[in-house]
Amino acid sequence: MTSRERFLQALALEPLDRPPVWIMRQAGRYLPEYRALKEQHSFVKMVQTPELAVEVTLQPLRRFELDAAIVFSDILVIPEAMGQAYHFKETGGIAMDFTLSTAADIGKLESNGIPDRLNYVTQALQLLRKELGQDTALLGFGGSPWTLAAYMLEGGGSKSWSKAKALFWEEPSLFHQLMEKLCDALSDYFLVQIEAGVDAIQIFDSWGAACPGRDYPEMSLRWIQQVISRLPEGFPIILYAKGMAEHADNMAETGARILSVDWTVNLPEFHDGLPEGVGLQGNLDPAILDTNPDLTRAETRRFLEDMQGKPGHIFNLGHGIYPSASPDNVAALVETVCAYPES
Ligand code: CP3
Repeated sequence: MTSRERFLQALALEPLDRPPVWIMRQAGRYLPEYRALKEQHSFVKMVQTPELAVEVTLQPLRRFELDAAIVFSDILVIPEAMGQAYHFKETGGIAMDFTLSTAADIGKLESNGIPDRLNYVTQALQLLRKELGQDTALLGFGGSPWTLAAYMLEGGGSKSWSKAKALFWEEPSLFHQLMEKLCDALSDYFLVQIEAGVDAIQIFDSWGAACPGRDYPEMSLRWIQQVISRLPEGFPIILYAKGMAEHADNMAETGARILSVDWTVNLPEFHDGLPEGVGLQGNLDPAILDTNPDLTRAETRRFLEDMQGKPGHIFNLGHGIYPSASPDNVAALVETVCAYPES
């Protein structure tokens, strides 16, 4: 069975001897070959140059037997295509070039013509589909409308996300206007990713956990559902939201096929409680990759045993890989999953 077949089978919630494995987001930084490339080119330049984006995407695949590749890009390409650019800070981390603060700022955002302005992503995906052939799965991705709005309204990351929440509470119609624009941009963007040949799309609701639980459906999930409703029926969507596992039923109502959860979640239990027709992705603690290969192998195996025989599982870390992760430990993890149950 090829990696891609395995991945598609997991997406179809069919039983497998072992789950497909890939490594979640911001995946380049622990590799010396990524850091070397970044000495020569800025982060945004790498994202915007299809050949460089393809190179960064393929780096982990050359080292490890991963079943799927996620295109190197960023969720912030959407605000940038709408007229609010982002940059990588000298001190590390990421910021928007300006903060979205007035109705006029929101009015000016452009939600038409996104596929043209993000043609560099489509080109990277097309090149990747060729490079990978038909044997490895390819994932596209984007941020959720709420998570993108949060970055746009705060001008970057935030501890409290109070400006973003204030818009929801104080000016609901302006909040709706922004969310409608984001939904238009995102659905057009996902449609071209699908045309370029991705096997699934992961939506990152990274800051879903900033929402009060009772407002989560209105602040975030409703808009994710709107985006998904405009995609071809049944196209597999993986929805990641850290810290929101107790909202699994509401998350599943968005139309997502797979819920991706962080490592605080007891995965076999969570699997048993999932609604019919929904699978899960996760969720080894990425901190294990700061230890050693023996511990990584043992922990990975323990986790595989817990999930043995449960269909619709994609093996992944419960959050992005840390820059401090050791490539030897990543190798130990991937080898253990691929050799399972013999490993
Ligand atoms: O695995 C991959 O490399 C796929 C590409 C990918 C990146 N970002 C590249 C990246 C993906 C899927 C993302 C998603 C992303 N980007 C999210 C959602 C996931 C999450 O973390 O919850 C978010 C919130 C962003 C926005 C973003 N991009 C932030 C907040 C940062 C800086 C913070 C950090 O972790 O350092 C980035 C930078 C970024 N995006 C890097 C990479 C490889 C780091 C670049 C570097 O340090 O050289």
